[in-house]
Amino acid sequence: MKILFIGDIFGSPGRDMVKQYLPKLKTKYNPHFIIINGENAAHGKGITQKIYNEFINFGANVITMGNHTWGNREIFEFIDGADKLIRPANFPEDNPGKGIIYSKVNGKEIAVINLQGRAFLPPSDCPFKKAEELIKQAEKRGAIIFVDFHAEATSEKQAMGWYLDGRAAAVVGTHTHIQTADNRILPNGTAYITDVGMTGPYDGVLGVDRDLILKRFLTGLPVKHDVAQGREQLSAVIIEIDDKTRLAKKIDRILINEDHHFFE
Ligand SMILES: [Fe+2]
Ligand SMILES: [Fe+2]
Repeated sequence: MKILFIGDIFGSPGRDMVKQYLPKLKTKYNPHFIIINGENAAHGKGITQKIYNEFINFGANVITMGNHTWGNREIFEFIDGADKLIRPANFPEDNPGKGIIYSKVNGKEIAVINLQGRAFLPPSDCPFKKAEELIKQAEKRGAIIFVDFHAEATSEKQAMGWYLDGRAAAVVGTHTHIQTADNRILPNGTAYITDVGMTGPYDGVLGVDRDLILKRFLTGLPVKHDVAQGREQLSAVIIEIDDKTRLAKKIDRILINEDHHFFE
């Protein structure tokens, strides 16, 4: 089974890139399952019902989130009915939504789990203990396990990769918005990358208008974030999983921007 995972979709530039390139990626890779991180989809913060529906119509099977889950208040109105959307599972117990989804693909069950790191991010329950709890459940069902670990620190993400090696088919990092070149299959069969990267503006600062961010660094004054305009990029990974062992065989990076001519 092949799983395509697209990193943090940032504002309308990110949504444009998905619309433009997802059909090409489908033709090139024939993925059986598509996961999109949508935490920045609505103008850089959160997601709306319309955008959620758009991603599902584009062919996404699961939408994952992160620290910006509640960034657009509209989510409180539709999250309970959004059966393909997950937010970090280690958010407080009584938060709306859920952190794991089971889906059927070609007669196989796949469990997608979203977790959030604790280094340099708001307080949350322990992602390692939550991973253990959810993976035990998923293992009992014989599911293929896919983890989006939304975290800032490389060390925390690497540690999670090692913690789940041989149990999850994949542990992919999101949140830093910069794709890392450390994609690999860990010794016991887990596909790993520290960060998939961001899909959206190419010439901003992590997606935000660079003049605003520069102003903040130069003056120390608060600025209202706005989505950068101009050139765009798409960041993703394609992971090949052995359906029998439920572990990974291959993880390749996908980076599309004007400096990486992916389709030429
Ligand atoms: Fe993000
Ligand atoms: Fe984030």
